[in-house]
Amino acid sequence: MAENKGKYYITTPIYYPSSNLHIGHTYCTVMADAMARFKRLAGYDVHFLTGTDEHGQKIQTIADEKGVTPQEYVDEIVAGIKDLWATMEISYDDFIRTTEPRHVKRVQAIFKKLYEKGDIYKGEYEGMYCTPCESFWTESQLVDGKCPDCGRPVTKAKEEAYFFRLSKYQDRLLDLFENTPEFLEPETRRNEMIAFVKQGLEDLCISRSTFDWGIPVPIDEKHVIYVWLDALSNYITALGYPDEPELYEKYWPANVHLVGKEIVRFHTVIWPAMLMSMEVPLPQKVLGHGWLLLEGGKMSKSKGNVVDPVVLIDRYGIDALKYFLLREYTFGQDGVFTNEVMLKRMNYDLANDLGNLVSRTVSMIEKYNGGIVPEYTDAVDPLDEELKQIATGAASKVEAYMDDFKFNFALEEIWVVIRRANKYIDETMPWVLAKDEADKPRLDNVLRNLTEAIRVVSVLIYPFMHTTTDAMREQLGLAGTEIKWEDAFVFDLAGGAKVCKGAPIFPRLDIDKEIEELEALEGKHKDVNIPLELKDEIVYDDFDKLDLRVGTILSAEKHPDADKLLVFQVQMGTEKRQIISGVAKYFKPEDCVGKKVVVVANLKPRKLRGLESKGMILFADDEVNGKESLAFVTTEAKDGNPVT
Ligand code: ME8
Ligand code: MG
Repeated sequence: MAENKGKYYITTPIYYPSSNLHIGHTYCTVMADAMARFKRLAGYDVHFLTGTDEHGQKIQTIADEKGVTPQEYVDEIVAGIKDLWATMEISYDDFIRTTEPRHVKRVQAIFKKLYEKGDIYKGEYEGMYCTPCESFWTESQLVDGKCPDCGRPVTKAKEEAYFFRLSKYQDRLLDLFENTPEFLEPETRRNEMIAFVKQGLEDLCISRSTFDWGIPVPIDEKHVIYVWLDALSNYITALGYPDEPELYEKYWPANVHLVGKEIVRFHTVIWPAMLMSMEVPLPQKVLGHGWLLLEGGKMSKSKGNVVDPVVLIDRYGIDALKYFLLREYTFGQDGVFTNEVMLKRMNYDLANDLGNLVSRTVSMIEKYNGGIVPEYTDAVDPLDEELKQIATGAASKVEAYMDDFKFNFALEEIWVVIRRANKYIDETMPWVLAKDEADKPRLDNVLRNLTEAIRVVSVLIYPFMHTTTDAMREQLGLAGTEIKWEDAFVFDLAGGAKVCKGAPIFPRLDIDKEIEELEALEGKHKDVNIPLELKDEIVYDDFDKLDLRVGTILSAEKHPDADKLLVFQVQMGTEKRQIISGVAKYFKPEDCVGKKVVVVANLKPRKLRGLESKGMILFADDEVNGKESLAFVTTEAKDGNPVT
């Protein structure tokens, strides 16, 4: 065990168990896990907390829709979340559920403390409420009349409620942002919060009486406590605050709350104000990370466009997924997730660079030295020293990057070692040395240096991909030995070990084939049924006003005076029609000829750039892919026949 460097308390957001978690949640938890493992290895007494945020209107509504109690609903989802973390070997020390009695009683105690401090009063709340975000907004905070966080519609809500005197803490919060810059990073987030607080803080409504899936207000059981007050408290209730303060005294204040950028405001305005009111020290740091986006936009449980981590783990293993997430994205910035980028990383960095280094080295030791890692000899070369310097110099660079949460740079530094070692093989050409007995001392040194470099790498990657550490050490004949960070600084620990060639640690992937199969799987996993957002409902009589007819496109050409328009001639039974549509950028005119389409035939004719258009052809929009297609019909029906 390394020297004890003190305590390190790290948290993730407690996720809503409104449905299964996706790759975005996995991303945050993987970063926290890597940091927790890194700090433990570096000699810190780590406490890593995660959990689930189970109360609130949103959960109650979903449970109602499913016909189960909210508790039954969250129990099932939370079991799945715990399974996911178990599969991924996430090394949390505690998992808090906000429905647990330990949390409930402590949130009530916190409410009482705020109340006794004089920071809670009863009033009447009227505002705009965003149910998915569980957030109240004032009219002036809305963007285009919609929720400023998620852009969805809000509803007017009015209720008798308890308020927290957030406004009282405005100056102290500003002071915090301005004088303790390390409290909130990255800097862009801090600037946003300074601007937000400067606008003026209103008191915060912290109770609800329109639903009951929450923690009862201890002084007035008609109300439940606002879900964010409940949720934020988890970081100290899990430590036993206030009634069982042993862990609290050991680990609080948190070294870092890791959160997504959309909930920075809750963590750096509301949470510190609550703590100030209770006279509890503030967390040392809140880090707001960026979002993983899909090509079509933000991943979201409520949109149903999510990437399922379970699918990726099943196919590629936990370490390949973790490596990709930590290596590809830059902390604090948004990044786009695609299967192709992920698969390339897995192939180039893991199968080629790391996998090849291990398998080539182990094979050569088996072939040229009976499977035993050679002792050092006198036959040295400047190349050896260079490799040693790069390998043993990496750990301190990794430490520096990890202090800044630069996981990607830390990993890049480790890959510098891996690539240098591969190049060392090409330069020293052990297969040539093996041909002449006189070169055996040189060959021994080469194989030994390679083994040491791989051993160093096996230590360096431990925080990020510990199962690969095990697999590598197994092949090096070092299975079962303790992983010590300080061993990454030295170059003479592997002599005499008996290597043992195993399966490739990362098999090569056929990228095209994988992409195809993943896409098929994603289709299979799209087990969603979320009502579409539609225009106002119509009655049959409204529909019956439309006269839809089958037609065949006879010709199509560009409108002489408008680039965007195509002019179609359509045969509809006895009648020939000219119809103009704004689809020029999607089709070659000649590709449309002969196609059967559905036409809204009784639409009032109008002129488009001087040409008459009589009716409308139906098209299927495909904005995401920047395409649009004709809603061609495969019908035998004759032109002019009605579509009903
Ligand atoms: O906000 N990219 O829970 P939540 C990256 N219960 N990270 C993402 C992501 C994406 N596309 N989607 C989600 C809540 N995350 C509250 C938190 S804490 C006291 C209460 C991650 O289930 C990111 O860390 O909506 C984000 O902040 C968190 O999941 C939100 O999870
Ligand atoms: Mg969210």
